[in-house]
Formats: sequence, C-alpha cells, structure tokens
Amino acid sequence: MKKNSRTAIFPVAGLGTRFLPITKVMPKEMLPIVDKPLIQYAIEEAKEAGIEEFILVTGKGKSIIEDHFDDAFELGTSLSKGRKINELRDVEGSTIGSGELFYTRQVKPLGLGHAIWCARRFVREQPFVVIAPDDLVLSTRGCLSQMMDVYDEVGGNLVAVENVPKNQTHKYGILDVTSDDGKIVGAKALIEKPLPAEAPSTLSIIGRYILHPEVFTYLESHEVGKGGEIQLTDAIAKTMDRVPFHGFRFKGERFDCGSKIGFLAANIAYALKRNDLGGNVREILKEKYNLG
Ligand code: UTP
Repeated sequence: MKKNSRTAIFPVAGLGTRFLPITKVMPKEMLPIVDKPLIQYAIEEAKEAGIEEFILVTGKGKSIIEDHFDDAFELGTSLSKGRKINELRDVEGSTIGSGELFYTRQVKPLGLGHAIWCARRFVREQPFVVIAPDDLVLSTRGCLSQMMDVYDEVGGNLVAVENVPKNQTHKYGILDVTSDDGKIVGAKALIEKPLPAEAPSTLSIIGRYILHPEVFTYLESHEVGKGGEIQLTDAIAKTMDRVPFHGFRFKGERFDCGSKIGFLAANIAYALKRNDLGGNVREILKEKYNLG
C-alpha cells in the first residue's frame, strides 16, 4: 500500500428506520445473515484486509454490539465441557482481542459524515477505512482486500462503486464520471442522492471507503446536506481538487441489508453457499415454493 491504512471506522449509530419495527430495540448491525450479525461480517472483511484497529461509532441502544465481541467465559466453559468444539470455535472466533476494539459515541445520529467525524481523534495522519456494516459484499476475496490492492496504485480517496438502476439514484452518492477502464473510475464530482433526471450517471458509492484524513477538514464544518443529514459524500467531494479521487468496481455481489429486501436476498444467497444448509434451502425453495 502507498501508506498503510490499519484503522477502520464502523459507523453503527444509525436509527435503522427502513427496518422498523425490529430496529426499535435491536441494532440493525446485529441482524443475522444466517447465524452471524452484519457487524461481524464487516469486522472479518476488515481483518482479512490487514486492519488492526477497529473503531465503532455507536449510539443509544447499541451496547449489545460491544457485548458480542467480548469474551463469553461461562458459555465457553459450558461448550468445552460438552465437547461442542465447532460451537466453541464460533464463539471464540467472534471475540476481539484486548486493545484492538475502540468505541466512540455519536450522541445524535446526524448522518454518516457526522458519525465519521466522531471518530476523528482515532485517525492520525494516515489514510483510514470506513465500512458501513449494512452493506454486505459476497465475494471470494473481501471487497476491502480488493480495494487495498488498487489503493497501492492510486492512493487518495478510493470508494467502492457499482451501477444501480436509473430509478434508484436518489438513494445513493453518484459519480460524475470522467474516465472508466472497467475497474478504476475517475470522476469530477460526487452528487448525493440525485433524482434520476439529474443524476450524471448510475454509478453509485457503496459502504466501503479508503479516505485521506483531509476529509476531516470539511466534516468539521458540520454542513447539512441531502435529507437534513451531514453527508460523507459531500465532504469527499470538497477534497476532489486536492486529493485524487477514484471509484473501484469490486468483484462480488452487494446486498443493502439496511433494506428488508436486501437483507432477505442476502440471507438466501449466504445460506445457499453453505455446505451445511445450501442443499436444504434449495430443496425448500423447490419442493415447497416451486422455485429454482
Ligand atoms: P444508513 O443511512 O444506511 O443507516 O447508514 P440508518 O440511517 O440507520 O438507516 P435508515 O435510513 O434510517 O434505515 C449507513 C451506516 O451508517 C450508520 C448506520 O448505523 C449504518 O451502519 N450511521 C448512519 C451512523 O452511524 N450515524 C448516522 O447518523 C447515520
């Protein structure tokens, strides 16, 4: 990599309003894809990419996320006694070592940009990673690992991108594209949630970023953008004249698990891939619902 990026920020303080009523008390980031919460997939993707410092931006009602990554001594002892080796491995695998996981609080959910600003004291002069745990990418190699390779070449600000249907642009940050070699995309502007008629392209940012600390200069101003929220995209857009910007077309299938349909699709896709479940799921879809 150009400059090592060993720190990742995971914003988990959002209200999850698209997923009510479950998110009334349950953090969206703890929703399971088969048997693991979204936040654990995000942490594992980061670990695979060499991340060593995990910063969670949490908020009200999110404390079970902290518990999930803690040691579970009694459960471990009981599984050990019962010789439940696989279960013990799963429980231990979800523990994060002392001094690797840090928490900071976003007192009010004022937007993704504001959540990242809340973690500013953890980021020094180095580039840093942002992973939105509700964006899940099913791929052979983790989306962030793929990005790290490209980051070696391009540096600056790098975001993962994919095409969305034209009528969906109002849900995403959209690139005003200047160059595109099928893998790395150049852009002259970023527009947050443009209406389809105003969108300069259909290439949208997904929840994976490698960012230059310069972005904090703009997050500092707490400028409110689309939807009355402080937007990360707006701050990145403002650095474009000084910090090189690129989009990266990753290999894999992305699921917006912050939406009910994306969450359901992810559960089916991940279950079908599992050796212990795939056959049964296929059978149910075929026999019971005449699908597949
Ligand atoms: P989303 O916009 O998908 O989350 O943000 P949300 O606001 O919780 O969702 P809806 O629209 O109300 O359903 C992406 C990530 O950023 C976090 C969320 O927790 C999610 O993981 N986030 C969002 C924050 O940490 N703080 C915020 O103010 C907003």
